[in-house]
Amino acid sequence: MASHAQNLAALWEMAIGHATSFGIKAAVLLRIPDILSDSLEKSMSLEEIAARLQGTNIQLAPLRRLLDYLVVKKVLLKIQSLEVPGEFKYGSTELCEMLTESKFARLLMLQDEVVTSGWHHIHEFILHGGEVPFQRAQGMFIWDYMEKNPEFLGLFSQGMVAISNVTMDSVLQTYHGFDEIRGVLVDVGGGFGADIGRVVEKYPHIAGVNYELPHVAHAAPAIPGVRHVRGDMMENIPPADAILLKTILHDFDDDEVILVLQNCYKALPHGGKLIIVDIDMDPAERGPFESLKFAFDLVLLALTKGGKERTSVQFTELLTQAQFNNIKTIGDVNCLCSIVEAHKLET
Ligand SMILES: C[S@@+](CC[C@H](N)C(=O)[O-])C[C@H]1O[C@@H](n2cnc3c(N)ncnc32)[C@H](O)[C@@H]1O
Repeated sequence: MASHAQNLAALWEMAIGHATSFGIKAAVLLRIPDILSDSLEKSMSLEEIAARLQGTNIQLAPLRRLLDYLVVKKVLLKIQSLEVPGEFKYGSTELCEMLTESKFARLLMLQDEVVTSGWHHIHEFILHGGEVPFQRAQGMFIWDYMEKNPEFLGLFSQGMVAISNVTMDSVLQTYHGFDEIRGVLVDVGGGFGADIGRVVEKYPHIAGVNYELPHVAHAAPAIPGVRHVRGDMMENIPPADAILLKTILHDFDDDEVILVLQNCYKALPHGGKLIIVDIDMDPAERGPFESLKFAFDLVLLALTKGGKERTSVQFTELLTQAQFNNIKTIGDVNCLCSIVEAHKLET
């Protein structure tokens, strides 16, 4: 049982847990992970880091406080300087490397003011229903907000690319279900197309299609081996030999998911394969990501209209309702997400 002091510490952690998010955000905005990563020894003194910042009146004491907090959070190491006894350098860690621009720094869009605005309204939605939390905060659903705010669309989609990189590294290392795909693979709701880009980079014989809402496809960068196709998955999906649905279905309620799956079914030939990459809430599958999975479920409650995390059993039921068969739960791929495969086998 936790001691009184442990409970007090947990209470404080709940009250000021945002110190971690915002401390890391400040470090990323200052590009501290990139500054350390670019340095030869991957470690620098306070003054050396300060000399690399772009400000007009750099404040050393606040910078030291931020760096010391990052040490406590194990993002940085504090190392005794070899040159000057008694002085310290700040060193990079694996976590710090993950926060560089070329890795996952943009994941921090999850802390953006607009993204987090819905969180303040979860209790009202629970009490009164009606407008979902994001809609209460911004007066519209998140996908409409993105359409009207190109800057936010860029921020959100770049953030999704960072999230994609985290998951796709593990998916491509662990899962071999793309091996047998021939012809066209359509990534439905593929954002800026980073995922399908990674797939065709590894499997160049696959023709990649990124299928997205018009304003997203319009803003997406060109990606080798990928064709951007504009449309609405609630209406139709272009002809495909195989389909990828990565962290898409969890954004929608069951009726919308069935509609999307039915459209996938129509787009596939007999024998066509559907690959779902999403969080699996099955207790046996939660592993080290258990509390994160529940946190993501709250992210969906705050951000979407009817979105929620599901178990692989629930995915199987929805797939069955949309006529899919030969459904296989492949399981966890070491990255928060799991894979469920299904096939269109007409009888
Ligand atoms: C959570 S993001 C997932 C993006 C990508 N699959 C990934 O894993 O990074 C959801 C995406 O679905 C797209 N989307 C939402 N509604 C859609 C619709 N009706 N038709 C096509 N795409 C849609 C959004 O534009 C957004 O890029």
